[in-house]
Amino acid sequence: LNFCVPKKRKEILDKLIKGLQRLEYRGYDSAGIGVDGGNDIEKSEQPTILIKKRGKVINLQEEIQGREDLNFDLEFDTHLGIAHTRWATHGVPNNVNSHPQRSDTNNDFVVVHNGIITNYKDIKKFLIGKGFEFESDTDTEVIAKLLKYMYDTRESDSITFRELVEGTVQQLEGAFAVVFKSTKYPGQAVASRRGSPLLIGIASKSKLSTDHIPILYSKEPSKKLLGANKEKGNKIGNNQEALNTANSTSSFQPANGDGQVEYFFASDASAIIEHTNRVIFMEDDDVAAVTDGCLSLHRIRRSVDESSTRQVQTLQMELQQIMRGNYSTFMQKEIFEQPESVVNTMRGRINFDANTVHLGGLKQHINELKRCRRLIFIACGTSYHSAMATRQLMEELTELPVMVELASDFLDRKTPIFRDDVCFFISQSGETADTLMALRYCKGRGALTVGITNVVGSSISRETDCGVHINAGPEIGVASTKAYTSQFIALVMFGLMMCEDRISMQQRRADIIKGLKELPDKIKDVLKLDEEVHSLAQELYQQKSVLIMGRGYNFATCLEGALKVKELTYMHSEGILAGELKHGPLALVDKAMPIIMIIMKDGTYTKCQNALQQVVARMGRPILLCEQGDTMSQKEAHRVMELPGIVDCLSGILTVIPLQLLSFHIAVLKGCDVDCPRNLAKSVTVE
Ligand code: G6P
Repeated sequence: LNFCVPKKRKEILDKLIKGLQRLEYRGYDSAGIGVDGGNDIEKSEQPTILIKKRGKVINLQEEIQGREDLNFDLEFDTHLGIAHTRWATHGVPNNVNSHPQRSDTNNDFVVVHNGIITNYKDIKKFLIGKGFEFESDTDTEVIAKLLKYMYDTRESDSITFRELVEGTVQQLEGAFAVVFKSTKYPGQAVASRRGSPLLIGIASKSKLSTDHIPILYSKEPSKKLLGANKEKGNKIGNNQEALNTANSTSSFQPANGDGQVEYFFASDASAIIEHTNRVIFMEDDDVAAVTDGCLSLHRIRRSVDESSTRQVQTLQMELQQIMRGNYSTFMQKEIFEQPESVVNTMRGRINFDANTVHLGGLKQHINELKRCRRLIFIACGTSYHSAMATRQLMEELTELPVMVELASDFLDRKTPIFRDDVCFFISQSGETADTLMALRYCKGRGALTVGITNVVGSSISRETDCGVHINAGPEIGVASTKAYTSQFIALVMFGLMMCEDRISMQQRRADIIKGLKELPDKIKDVLKLDEEVHSLAQELYQQKSVLIMGRGYNFATCLEGALKVKELTYMHSEGILAGELKHGPLALVDKAMPIIMIIMKDGTYTKCQNALQQVVARMGRPILLCEQGDTMSQKEAHRVMELPGIVDCLSGILTVIPLQLLSFHIAVLKGCDVDCPRNLAKSVTVE
């Protein structure tokens, strides 16, 4: 929202489109925008213009450019535009199902939404009963229409936009981050969240008057339209008086300024970082309103020990970090960034001379951590694999039972959790709904919760008791690469910290710390295999399937490699524990089946040789990832890729990189969209 910042419509549209492009990695099956219909803020008959298009943001951009009816030079003093890129949950990707969704054909109230409204069917039924007609298959449309219903049945004309939104979101169940725009309230923005992330960016030339924005409280919630007091009537607005008690003088505006300020609402900071690095992370059930250039933050009720302010934080992220540079895709850039990103994860945390590890985010809980009954690692996708990759080492270093759980399954099983458990939530985005739900479940049972996240200010990093930021820098490619290796290292550092005072462990610790120090150079060596991997990709890209086998420290690499191949190339791929080969997968082996085998010189080397022999005996033609100079394994191989040796427990960081590169090259050869694989999203904020 620009307040007193004169801008042409073209500039406003460009800014919205650019923001969407930066967020496109989160979802990309359709996109849309809503902008002011006219520049006279007093006139109400200038309906919001909605433009929506199936497909990627570029399609929307072309659609807008082709709209001859739009006066791109029209100047606005104050303007609110909203925009959205969608990853379909309810309703196929098409123009109508794209956001913004609207209240009526006049576009009186429009909304963009990230999340899922689980009671949308009930609300829809209710609104149909009130004469509303629906045009989309989305859950989101009920939000815009419910707001309109609230407006039409308001008891007083003095009701504010924010009060209407408060009344509306209280009827919603599920997860949402929503931003509203209305022709009835021009130049005003209202936003709220529950479960899905939302932040506010403030761009102003003048200094901010405060870096703590007070929360304004209302006394009582609105009556439930549906559910418990459904029968009691459909009056909304019964509690308007209560809601009005918020004191608008505590709202925030930049100090000593000329009144010029821009506010941004976004799901994550990459959408806005080129405009401002000053942000407020909204909490669940916060409602933010911008009226006359002033921002105010509201909650319905104050609960015990919740903070009564929200802090304006200054982000360290640079625009350059989210630019692609000379690489063809973000994923390729992120793979090649790993020599630096692993250093950033370790920076300031490891003393390579004294062999000590210091994780500031865990310091206060060190005693609790050391006294716990077991460690439970909970995550999804690639993050889950990072837990698998470090499990064996964790058991060795901590001598504790270590469970590794997929968040969705962990919740399905209602896994027993005790007060003396320590639960780790590993998530690049820090927003994955399954992982977040598991976190809340464990918190409710009194366990100590630890976050391992990349995104500072994310829900998981805020809601855990303590944690470690992996500092890998923004990861934009949907398929995670550098976050995996950094999560791996963060977990290794945790293991090292846990056994710092154990005499018997000192040599092992020294070896691992030495390995960590060597990592950046060894990763650089592995990246030099790029050409060889490219040639392997040429051999494999027309195949239907590829099996990836290994065991011990490298089983997780097989799972992660197979996930990368699936995600990016749509080719079937399976990570197989070499120890299980004879219990089934061997039936798949013949001379035609592409098989990648990882054999490193660790404790499983001899057993891996057995697996190799079993494959070769069935006419299999293994493609080998092995250590430099391992002639014994190489004799049997159809192709070989040699990797530098490293301390056993860190080899998974090196072995995964050729598989990241392989999936990248196969995807390019097959013409797949590397950064935005079909049907996937970077940050899955729905269960
Ligand atoms: C999605 C992404 C994966 C990611 C997983 C977990 O499925 O497509 O790349 O590994 O979510 O995400 P998180 O942000 O929790 O690590």
